[in-house]
Amino acid sequence: MSQWKQNKKILFGISGGIAAYKAPDILHSWIKAGCEVETILTKSAEEFVSPLVLATLSKKHIWCEDDFLSADKGWKIPHISLTEWADIFVIAPCTASTLKTCADGECSTLLGAALLANRKPLVLFPAMNPNMLSHTETQENIKKLISRGCKVVDPDSGLLACGYEGKGRLPSSNIVNEHIWKELFPKKDLRGLHVVVTAGPTHEYIDPVRYISNPSSGKMGYALAKYAWYRGAEVTLISGPTSLMPPVGINFISVTTAEEMYNACMENNSTADIIIMAAAVGDFKVEKEFSNKIKREENAPLALHLVQNEDICAKLGKMKPDGQILIGFAAETQNVMENAQKKLESKNLDMIAANNVLVDGAGFQFDTNVLSLIMKNGKIEEISGTKDDVADALLDFVVTKRQGL
Ligand code: PMT
Repeated sequence: MSQWKQNKKILFGISGGIAAYKAPDILHSWIKAGCEVETILTKSAEEFVSPLVLATLSKKHIWCEDDFLSADKGWKIPHISLTEWADIFVIAPCTASTLKTCADGECSTLLGAALLANRKPLVLFPAMNPNMLSHTETQENIKKLISRGCKVVDPDSGLLACGYEGKGRLPSSNIVNEHIWKELFPKKDLRGLHVVVTAGPTHEYIDPVRYISNPSSGKMGYALAKYAWYRGAEVTLISGPTSLMPPVGINFISVTTAEEMYNACMENNSTADIIIMAAAVGDFKVEKEFSNKIKREENAPLALHLVQNEDICAKLGKMKPDGQILIGFAAETQNVMENAQKKLESKNLDMIAANNVLVDGAGFQFDTNVLSLIMKNGKIEEISGTKDDVADALLDFVVTKRQGL
């Protein structure tokens, strides 16, 4: 569990729509992440979700309309105290009516008054019927709120409880959470920058049913993309085939072969301020892919003629525009530091992450990694931990390097 998520204080407003049934799941995921949660229910939300369920999960009193301007719970003034206590105010689901309350500064309810008193980051997750969402009134309220600095997250599309198919669904708790973590993440030092990350393996097809590949899961590259997004960057993730969900908020380019990864990197190179090559790109492919499945002949060996793929990183190093930072990884099993140093120089990199993949808990597949970061000026920094923590630490060094430019 990432340390920075611990003890964060979330004020959770739930308004009365059918999507409120997802609220206990969202709340529970915050508690599991180590956060503290205070919850305000609107009168109509009480019809959709049980305060007892929310109280049991959060181990806290649930603030309902009857608590507004009541001293019964021995709390100061709930709508003021709760917003002072919170690090962030989240409303999910946020109905059309609550959007209007918020945009108009209408404060005759507990949630409305808390919204008006609030000075903390506010994140709204609208969820409603597609016609209600696309109505000019709702869209104007959303625009007004965005212009005031409030974050309004686009609803998901799909089949809604009202029977309509379209945009208006409350995203699942893992998507909701990514937006919250981004909002809560303390560093915003990549704002305004375009970060390109490569991740995962490549598949170099021999015939239609067989390929040459490696065990890369994509976890390291996806963690880097996610943390660059948390830090405010516009992120493009170029990923080989993995079983991971594309990260939230990121421009995702799915590729299969090294050649496709090469093309995607070239397309994004000119706008990239930072490129991080965490992918395990196949070094070799068959000279010519067989068009049909190769048949096994009795006892006959099969010789494949392999040729080298283009080295994407080396090519990017040759083309590097002024001010761009290019970072490579070196997955090694022997002479780790020497080999990584050679790659740093031959590929014209600014930094290389030497990854001894024979170390337990490092490299392919693991949720953790152990890296030696070798800088162009010869300095070496050791980082280890979960791939999330390693990604965060690696980006700290990238930011330091950028600040020195
Ligand atoms: O995906 P995970 O399971 O989380 O595992 C993470 C990882 C082990 C894949 C990652 O930490 C890692 O070490 N990635 C680099 C793997 C690799 O291909 O290393 P390399 O030493 O073969 O390549 C050196 C650099 O050149 C790399 O940045 C690589 O992306 C790049 N390269 C390599 C070959 C090629 N044809 N083009 C390239 O751009």
